[in-house]
Amino acid sequence: MGHPRVDAIAREAREAAAAAASSAELERVRVAYLGRQGLLTQLLRALGTLPPQERPLVGAAANEAKRALEALLDERLAAAQARERRDARARARLDLTLPGRRPPLGVVHPLTRVHDEIVAIFVGLGFAVAEGPEVETDEYNFELLNLPPDHPARDMQDTFYISDAALLRTHTSPVQIRTMKAQRPPVRIICPGAVYRRDADVTHSPMFHQVEGLAVDRRITMGDLKGTLELFAREMFGPRSRIRFRPSFFPFTEPSAEVDVLCFLCAGGGCRVCRQSGWLEILGSGMVHPQVLRNVGYDPEEVTGWAFGMGIERIAMLKYGIDDIRLFFDNDLRFLRQFA
Ligand code: FA5
Ligand code: MG
Repeated sequence: MGHPRVDAIAREAREAAAAAASSAELERVRVAYLGRQGLLTQLLRALGTLPPQERPLVGAAANEAKRALEALLDERLAAAQARERRDARARARLDLTLPGRRPPLGVVHPLTRVHDEIVAIFVGLGFAVAEGPEVETDEYNFELLNLPPDHPARDMQDTFYISDAALLRTHTSPVQIRTMKAQRPPVRIICPGAVYRRDADVTHSPMFHQVEGLAVDRRITMGDLKGTLELFAREMFGPRSRIRFRPSFFPFTEPSAEVDVLCFLCAGGGCRVCRQSGWLEILGSGMVHPQVLRNVGYDPEEVTGWAFGMGIERIAMLKYGIDDIRLFFDNDLRFLRQFA
């Protein structure tokens, strides 16, 4: 070729192109020599500053070096791009021999399980399922259940009020009122759902679940209530389970009884879960108060009824031997996975 300075740059450029292993590196070489600030480009642009007799020689050599480098870069670039496409295809190819990733299997929450079991038992006995709102009026949650404002029994359920007239229902009993107002006897329903109270310890949670039961018809008796709940307990806790009826008080039933199940933890000996009594309360119940029947337009001379309200958490604790109600709501997978 023609000129020592041009030859030096051209050699350097060829070596750089030969060393470039990827299309990105080749592009950097192209920019370094042929780009707008590239060495060869600058050399050509500075031709005018050379002595006139040198210009044709340097110009011809630089142009020749430029063409040669362009050709070399094009060739190397084509090869690099082909190699890169091949590598990308190889990386993307599906490897069917890889072991699959198993999606983690969830389990049904123990409360959902117990809820479903309770519903199945009563549906099997001919009860229909009814539901009501969690935000209730004072009228349905208390007044129509024979709990006028300032009635001392309101203190039995410490209430979350939303306004003077609206509250979070403290029990599922308002669904009794809604159902009886909407239909004539006979009535046989259960109403499962969430309820709320200012209440918290190992057996009390501020949000918990109840299942209400209600049967109203001609000649319904306390014996029907006892028979139904004894059958329920056998189905739920097994044929050898023991329950007891204990006289109690609710303004909306008369007479009233609470039902206890023998404590699972101490088998009656007394412990922290049953507060040393040997028994765990699972529900309140009784014969529907005549005033409640009158409040919904039923005639207490014609029909009678019983009702109960049971705590789903308490039943789940008994069934699975759980000694702290808060475990249900912590969402600790180590706890929940045991119900797989
Ligand atoms: C009532 O709520 C009545 N409405 C039940 C009733 C219905 C009586 C129909 C008569 C006729 P009580 O407040 O006792 O009653 O609650 C009923 C059940 O809910 C209790 O036996 C217990 O199992 C459960 N329970 C009550 N408070 C809590 C709480 N804070 N956390 C978990 N479970 C609770
Ligand atoms: Mg109670």
